[in-house]
Amino acid sequence: MRLELVTKENVRAACDLKLHPHQESYVAPVAVSIAEAYVNQDIAWLRVIMDEDQVVGFVMVAIQPDEPIEAYRFCIWRLNIAAEEQGKGYGRFAIDSVLKEARERGVSRVTVTWHPGEDGPEEFYKRLGFVPTGEVLEGEKVGAIDV
Ligand SMILES: CC(C)(COP(=O)(O)OP(=O)(O)OC[C@H]1O[C@@H](n2cnc3c(N)ncnc32)[C@H](O)[C@@H]1OP(=O)(O)O)[C@@H](O)C(=O)NCCC(=O)NCCS
Repeated sequence: MRLELVTKENVRAACDLKLHPHQESYVAPVAVSIAEAYVNQDIAWLRVIMDEDQVVGFVMVAIQPDEPIEAYRFCIWRLNIAAEEQGKGYGRFAIDSVLKEARERGVSRVTVTWHPGEDGPEEFYKRLGFVPTGEVLEGEKVGAIDV
């Protein structure tokens, strides 16, 4: 498993990643995330998750240390693992890699926001050690972890 930059070689496979239909309301399609990253290049950190030569997922983080809302300073923005590749540790690997990136930048707290709901990622993030802060921002719950 490894992370790679989004390149002209992998961008189509990244955009073709499909979730389970019941998960689609919880995260934007990868193509939308890449478009948002294009117009937010100053804050977007994005990678594809690879296993050998296969794109299995996508992760994007917003990094904006001067943001007044603390929860948005180093915040996991998107995480998509292909439906058929879920449950194999790729999500954990992606988040561990993000936490490592945070440490290397001297960031001590990483946050994530998620839509609450039965098919949402709340239990996944709790399993990885994120703790709900009690905040709700733009309808999404905030979770945080000290790194
Ligand atoms: C949530 C998501 C990213 C998890 O990715 P994944 O690769 O399937 O997760 P992993 O296999 O790395 O699982 C890591 C751990 O979390 C647990 N876990 C994963 N999903 C879980 C869930 N829905 N409920 C409870 N535990 C869960 C696993 O059992 C595993 O535990 P373990 O390592 O202690 O055995 C993936 O299901 C997904 O892409 N969902 C749809 C999009 C989404 O909601 N993204 C988040 C937007 S903020």
